[in-house]
Amino acid sequence: MQFQAKSFDAASHRSPLLVVGVFSNTTLTPGAHLIDQAGKGQLSKLLTREKFTGARGTSLMLHHSVGQTAERLLIIGLGPLEKSSIEPAAINAALNALQNVAKSATYKSLSIDLTGVSVSGQASSWLASHIAQTLTTGLWQFDQLKSQKSNKLNINKITVNTDGSAATIKKSLEQGQALADGMNYARELGNLPGNICTPSYLANQARAMGRGQSKLKVSVLTEKQMQAEGMGSLLSVSAGSDEPAKLIVMEYRGAAKSQAPNVLVGKGITFDTGGISLKPGAGMDEMKFDMCGAASVFGTMKTLLALQPKINVVAIVAAAENMPSGGATKPGDIVTSMSGQTIEVLNTDAEGRLVLCDALTYSKRFKPKTVIDIATLTGACVIALGSHAHGLYSNDQAFADRLLDAGIEAGDRAWQMPLWDEYQKQLDSNFADIANIGGREAGSITAACFLSRFTKDLCWAHLDIAGTAWKSGGAKGATGRPVPLLVQYLLNNK
Ligand code: BES
Ligand code: MN
Ligand code: ZN
Repeated sequence: MQFQAKSFDAASHRSPLLVVGVFSNTTLTPGAHLIDQAGKGQLSKLLTREKFTGARGTSLMLHHSVGQTAERLLIIGLGPLEKSSIEPAAINAALNALQNVAKSATYKSLSIDLTGVSVSGQASSWLASHIAQTLTTGLWQFDQLKSQKSNKLNINKITVNTDGSAATIKKSLEQGQALADGMNYARELGNLPGNICTPSYLANQARAMGRGQSKLKVSVLTEKQMQAEGMGSLLSVSAGSDEPAKLIVMEYRGAAKSQAPNVLVGKGITFDTGGISLKPGAGMDEMKFDMCGAASVFGTMKTLLALQPKINVVAIVAAAENMPSGGATKPGDIVTSMSGQTIEVLNTDAEGRLVLCDALTYSKRFKPKTVIDIATLTGACVIALGSHAHGLYSNDQAFADRLLDAGIEAGDRAWQMPLWDEYQKQLDSNFADIANIGGREAGSITAACFLSRFTKDLCWAHLDIAGTAWKSGGAKGATGRPVPLLVQYLLNNK
């Protein structure tokens, strides 16, 4: 999709489809007003006749001119004005209506005029970026594995007119699109099934991303190399699988070498059967999404490559498949992590923390400013927070606050959970330094406590995205979250 910033007159602008807004009580936006003037009041009359008041989420499609030069006119309801601005949710409802029209459009381009529309709590540049982001994710389709492709999208160019100079709007559109492309990449990797998206497949994706990119250095550790590093915990997860584990490292250098990087660590379990502690069959297909933490790290790197910010970011993906077999790790097995701490594997289905702890220990060699791990770690987090907020844990409150703020800014919110010492004793083991499960109570918290044992000397945060990374049911699919939060955080700290 090509987005173009252009300041134009809504009445005389030529386009197969022009989109303008109307606020509640039939209050016209400046664009709608220009059309009404040019058509000597035809638009106002028509809105009255059709009882179109501008309520949130409503829309009206006109296939004839009421004063505008454009061939068609889509009028979208923007809802009530509060202190002369509207809610972000009203924009989302309006863009949703537009998406439905765009999906079935037979023409190639459309234009949007939302000048004079200000959104509460957001700078004027936000609207253009949000339009590009929402339409790029909303019009994205995942049909590469269907022999009959869904209806092809005809629209390939969208012209946007919002408040601000053409140069700022252009920049905003680019940012929104780069973010959406990163999210769509994360969704694609998430949706790909376990028989295609293996640890080796992810390693190849990283290599492909690094090709021709002077700022991105990619390296992949084999099982043998991980063995040499002492990653006995990570390797205990892939022990039952025919697919070899990979530790994928992508180093984005946009700033001076002397500047400490922010490190992202993604859980990349390309399929989680539970291992010998086998999961029940119902819904097990969704465990192909158990690499969505890794996918969000890939998506974030893709967005950074498009925007080329002057920052340093290191991405580490711990990729493995969790399978039962004659060689698989058994409950009660004790493994030695790269940190030297021994772990009693009481449940082989608590494998995410086993791969992450070694990846977190490995991250220390980059002398990071901050480390964030992102993981579909616990079913308990889904019970605690549902599908709206990521679970956030951190050993540094100022860092946690910056992540919470980034999530609010990006419309991709996290909610902080406690990492109190009281929970730690649930991980006591009779036979090793630590057990890999902490009992039924506070499952998301004890998983975070486990990770905290490996991050004591780091400024570290953990995002449990088990409830937010994908949707189940009729709309089953990866969401691309938390790419917006991660990108916002990284760009805020440049
Ligand atoms: N990948 C799962 C977590 C998960 C489950 C995410 C369901 C989303 C939906 C993880 O590896 C896992 O199996 N966790 C166990 C931990 C338990 C054995 C302590 C869980 O949450 O049940
Ligand atoms: Mn598991
Ligand atoms: Zn898992």
